[in-house]
Amino acid sequence: MRIPYNKQYIFGDTFKIISQSLKSDLITTGKYVKKFEQKIANFNKVKYALVTSSGTSALHLAFESINIKKGDNVIIPAINFIASYSMLKKMNANIFLADVDNDGHLSPITLVNCIKHNNLKKIKAVINMHMSGHIKYTDDLLKLKKKFNFFLINDSCHSFGSKYIYKKQVFNSGNCSHFDIATYSFHPVKSITTGEGGAITTNNKKIYKNIIAKRSHGIIRDKKRYWNYKINELGYNYRLSDLNCALGISQLNNLKKIMAKRKKIAKYYFKKLEKFSEFIDLPDKNLINFSSWHLFVIKFKSNLIKDKYFKDKVFNIFIANKIFPQYHYIPIYNFKAFAGTKKKLRGTENFYKSALSIPIYYAMKYKDCDKVIKCIKLVIKKFK
Ligand SMILES: Cc1ncc(COP(=O)(O)O)c(C=O)c1O
Repeated sequence: MRIPYNKQYIFGDTFKIISQSLKSDLITTGKYVKKFEQKIANFNKVKYALVTSSGTSALHLAFESINIKKGDNVIIPAINFIASYSMLKKMNANIFLADVDNDGHLSPITLVNCIKHNNLKKIKAVINMHMSGHIKYTDDLLKLKKKFNFFLINDSCHSFGSKYIYKKQVFNSGNCSHFDIATYSFHPVKSITTGEGGAITTNNKKIYKNIIAKRSHGIIRDKKRYWNYKINELGYNYRLSDLNCALGISQLNNLKKIMAKRKKIAKYYFKKLEKFSEFIDLPDKNLINFSSWHLFVIKFKSNLIKDKYFKDKVFNIFIANKIFPQYHYIPIYNFKAFAGTKKKLRGTENFYKSALSIPIYYAMKYKDCDKVIKCIKLVIKKFK
């Protein structure tokens, strides 16, 4: 059987709740949407949660809600999914790519370097990305946010269910006490899925109001005369249907199990792979109880990487064994569609060259993990 790098798991209670949602009067903008949003807000202990048609539309609405406009300076990490870049580019923002640390994360050092190197006086927003589900540097990023006065948006698409510590207190990724907005994706590979879908959390009422209108064409309905509405700003159709939300509710009800299983697999990998430290680096084990383990990224050390085709050869070894790992991510500046300076960043290049996301998902069995480990051993044997 094929072993992908990630995939959804549909729990037994899902079918009942989806069929119930189908019997509702409203199968979009109905009570399952409200309930799912409430559950997301309660889980994250945040004031507002809004679901959207995707993680990308969540990012787009988040950017519009803080009024990013032509020429505004926005910083994103260079190791990233393309969604932030493409939305910001379409909004004509000035996008600056910051380098990443060993773990593929924007760090206070890479952020300050980006600000200094580009001589940025005014920064509208920094879009941090919780690579792999790990949340890092909250204290320092908050300090920099205050110093440079930027909006801090967390692209938390990898981190639904992840936690972080701030001043000895534990927070869920979408809590928004130490940043302005979090966005999620509920694509099937993520911690929880709605098929396609996303969400935004914030404690800021103004941002919330802006997003709620723009999610549905900018329409603001008259509370007393339902047939009447005004449109002050144009919006989109970025809504998520009740059917999707019913699936999301079932997933969220099972989140504890999902998190426990992902952690169990991560622990198994740590146990079995630690002895290969001469050849591979593992993720930060201190995050074992805090990460959603959306990804388990191993990094091959330079003693294995003999030529530029190394990763292709690695993929071929896995694929021959019906295992399908993944790259996260090709640096944004490598794409033809990237319009800025193509200068390569050191941390980004190192990460890109060496990182591989090995399979981790709810239905995975130890025997599947063993097959993955066997391939890693084959790679080491072949290239050492
Ligand atoms: C970090 C990150 N941001 C944004 C997105 C976009 O989410 P979606 O695919 O739901 O639009 C993804 C999804 O792959 C992601 O991983």
